[in-house]
Amino acid sequence: MNNKGPGFFITLEGIEGSGKTTHARRLFSFLEEANVPSLLTREPGGTPVGEKVRELLLNPESGAMDPLTETFLLEASRREHVTEVISPALQAGKVVICVRFTDSTLAYQGYGRGVPLSHLHCLNNIATGGIVPDLTLLFDVEPEVGLARSFSRTEEKELRFEKEFLANKEFLLAVRDGYLQLVKEYPHRFMVVNTTEHSKEEVFALVRETIWQKLEKRG
Ligand SMILES: Nc1ncnc2c1ncn2[C@@H]1O[C@H](COP(=O)(O)OP(=O)(O)OP(=O)(O)O)[C@@H](O)[C@H]1O
Ligand SMILES: [Mg+2]
Repeated sequence: MNNKGPGFFITLEGIEGSGKTTHARRLFSFLEEANVPSLLTREPGGTPVGEKVRELLLNPESGAMDPLTETFLLEASRREHVTEVISPALQAGKVVICVRFTDSTLAYQGYGRGVPLSHLHCLNNIATGGIVPDLTLLFDVEPEVGLARSFSRTEEKELRFEKEFLANKEFLLAVRDGYLQLVKEYPHRFMVVNTTEHSKEEVFALVRETIWQKLEKRG
């Protein structure tokens, strides 16, 4: 399943409250208005099985989980998502906009929880069949600012990670640093946007410009 097809695959990454969902929605509306066939989706989730896994992973009632158990659940959701949704859309030539993907697993389960990165690369590769994003937007925000934004709008039943971070700020710092490490490793596909200091409008203007240029280049 290595062949990605003629589509264009964009992922949005970053810690809680960094602006992923906001900008994914705006980008999707913008592309729809420009008559570019697009698909908006998210992880964990994006399929009926994936949404059930999402409930399990994000609900505070699930409590602490072994990091590898967490990883396997995420990868199961990802496998279903890639085979049922992402790959067919890319094959059909669509622009796929996905909130969180393989880099989230490297940042949270790897840099955050200490699961060996080699395990995660292997599992990511198995789950995706080798599909890699064409472009990854990293929304970088100060953890304190992001958490405050996230608590103000996330439903109680999806606050498992936020609650953990409040009790352990170091963890979120490690995740953020992990993302920045990934940018150094894969500079060709990452674009970093600072959302602590830039307004939603400024951030979106930058995102829109970047994506438009990339899509034009691709023809
Ligand atoms: N650049 C910005 N400046 C100010 N507020 C912002 C900015 N970007 C997003 N916000 C606001 O921050 C809140 C969180 O944004 P959003 O839900 O898009 O984040 P997220 O990365 O999807 O978070 P989560 O991981 O918790 O789902 C929203 O209320 C949004 O309007
Ligand atoms: Mg979100």
